[in-house]
Formats: sequence, C-alpha cells, structure tokens
Amino acid sequence: MPDPTAPVPAEPVELVGPRATLRPWTAEDGPELNRIVTRPEVACWWGEEDFALPTEGGEQRYAIVVEGRVRGMIQFYEEPEPDYRHAGIDVFLDPDTRGLGLGVEVIVTLARWLFDERGHHRIVIDPALDNTAAVRAYEKAGFRRVGVMRSYWRDPEGHWRDGLLMDMLADDLPAAAAGRSGGGAV
Ligand SMILES: CC(C)(COP(=O)(O)OP(=O)(O)OC[C@H]1O[C@@H](n2cnc3c(N)ncnc32)[C@H](O)[C@@H]1OP(=O)(O)O)[C@@H](O)C(=O)NCCC(=O)NCCS
Repeated sequence: MPDPTAPVPAEPVELVGPRATLRPWTAEDGPELNRIVTRPEVACWWGEEDFALPTEGGEQRYAIVVEGRVRGMIQFYEEPEPDYRHAGIDVFLDPDTRGLGLGVEVIVTLARWLFDERGHHRIVIDPALDNTAAVRAYEKAGFRRVGVMRSYWRDPEGHWRDGLLMDMLADDLPAAAAGRSGGGAV
C-alpha cells in the first residue's frame, strides 16, 4: 500500500545558477550529451548510456547549459522510503569546461534546491575512489567522505574498483552558497 506520508515525485523545473542553468532534459539533448560522455576523460568514469533515451531508474536528469550551449549533465534520484529518505547526485561536464568551478557550482545549485524545495536533509554522491578531480570538486561543494566501498563499480575494462561514499547535510553547503537560493524554479 502506498505510504501517504511519502513525498510526491518532483516536477521538473529549471534551476538557475550564477553561470549555468540546469534545464530539464529532453531527447533533443541526446546527441550533445552522447558526444560529451563518450569523450575519453568522461567515459573512463561513466558507463555506457544513451542520453537520447529517458533514464531507466527514475532519476531526474538536467542538461547543464552555459551561454546557451549544453556543457554537461547532472541528475538526481530520491529514496522515497520515509525513514531513509535522501537524494543522490551524478554529474559530468565537457572536458573543455573542466577546472573552471562549474562542477562545484552546479552541484551547489542542485543541492540547495534539494534541501530547500524537496525537503531533503541528506544528499549522497559516490565517485570512484581514485577520481581525484571529482572528489576534490565534491568536497568543495560541501560533501564529506563517509567511507570506501570496496569493489563497488565495474570500470569499462570490466574490473571491479573501489568507490567513495560521500554525503552532505544542509549545514555542509559552502558558506558562500548557504544564504542564497541555489537557483530558483522559473
Ligand atoms: C567531476 C567534475 C564534474 C568536476 O567539475 P569541474 O568543473 O572540473 O570542477 P571544478 O572546476 O568545480 O573544480 C573543483 C576542484 O577540482 C579540481 N580539479 C579539477 N580538475 C581536476 C583534475 N583533472 N585533477 C585534479 N583536480 C582537478 C580543481 O582544481 C578544483 O579544486 P581547487 O579549486 O582546489 O583547485 C568534472 O571534472 C567531470 O565532469 N569529470 C569527468 C566525469 C566525472 O568524473 N564525473 C563524476 C562521476 S562520479
């Protein structure tokens, strides 16, 4: 029987950050996202996935748009069980835009909305343990290391590799981002 206290699924809304807009995904974003995700710098961390098709697991996916151009993808899922409620985030950016602070920005934008508008108290993210850039970006966005998940994910060569579970509570958001709404629904 459905739990009457379970929150209803989120309606896709556009989230606006200082530089990047998170625009709800459409199939038209597929070719550009597929071009980005198959670039070697991204493909080594991301499994095969066709971004012309909707997600299979119920994740809500956004195109990251900077100056009118799709530059990456960010998505979240929500655990609906009330006693374990939380959200999880995944993200990738075009390698041409890396190192400019966009990764931190889009995570903060989405995290702020998940805390403020979706009522979450906890968000998780699970990079590969040796994905130094991602771990660094997530720490800057406010995530903390929880622990190593051994042989957690299978890489493109078929080897099981360790992952790092990271989590963030609302108070962990960077102070600079804590006071403002990280992107408003428009
Ligand atoms: C992870 C990712 C989204 C981070 O976005 P980003 O815009 O590059 O990160 P930022 O510019 O916000 O940088 C955050 C920190 O990471 C560091 N960083 C960026 N690229 C790095 C690299 N190649 N190696 C080490 N550190 C790096 C930055 O120096 C910065 O730290 P600093 O300010 O202390 O120097 C992006 O790198 C990416 O898409 N990577 C490929 C796909 C991927 O790994 N996705 C995550 C799967 S869990």
